[in-house]
Amino acid sequence: MSIDAMSGAVPVITIDGPSGTGKGTLAHLLAARLGWHLLDSGALYRIVAVGAEAQGIASSDIAGLCRFAHDMKVVFSPGAEESIRLDGQEVAPLVRLEESGEKASVIAAIPELREALFERQQAFRRPPGLVADGRDMGTVVFPDARLKFFLTASSQERVQRRYKQLKNKGVSVNLSALLRDIEVRDQRDASRAASPLLPAKTAVVVDTTALDIDQVLDRVLAKVGEEFSRTF
Ligand code: DC
Repeated sequence: MSIDAMSGAVPVITIDGPSGTGKGTLAHLLAARLGWHLLDSGALYRIVAVGAEAQGIASSDIAGLCRFAHDMKVVFSPGAEESIRLDGQEVAPLVRLEESGEKASVIAAIPELREALFERQQAFRRPPGLVADGRDMGTVVFPDARLKFFLTASSQERVQRRYKQLKNKGVSVNLSALLRDIEVRDQRDASRAASPLLPAKTAVVVDTTALDIDQVLDRVLAKVGEEFSRTF
């Protein structure tokens, strides 16, 4: 069943949580398993941060950021060799830098920018369904989602995962600086007034500290199977 039988709405599964909980990987795997579309909302904030900066738009220029967010043409091609084209230019390596996440977190606190990205995010909701990954997917962007997950993990574990990812990419990182950066970013994302990072009331909270990604996917698929009365 692809279209929600009760409301006629395209079903959405949201996956929210802080960075390093495995949300992104889980969202990719789940979307592929279900054959649904994928929204990586963090990438949109990252793209605005790096794209606006490249055009000389200051992070304090709210109107400029909103105009950029409204006009930008973005094409996502997820996969092992991820591609993100911004106005025809390949930007995935730049978008995935640690510092781009930091810049994204800063501009993501601007309510007008969140509003400017709202419809673009909702436009990802197309049949047969959508898996949406971010911070406010279940609370603000898709409050009527059929199923909402909120992933957590200890900050030590999240830093270790991020450290391994960066090392695999050949990026040299300082573990204690990384821990500090992640904690600052989490604190900013969770304490901002506009759409702070927090679990939706009905979210299924999954602590991934002691789980590998296959175990997380199994738990999530079990819930999805219950909700949609079938196995995937
Ligand atoms: O998920 P990520 O690390 O790519 O996200 C980068 C930043 O973007 C994150 O620190 C906060 C912001 N963000 C947000 O405010 N709301 C979202 N739905 C997704 C990301």
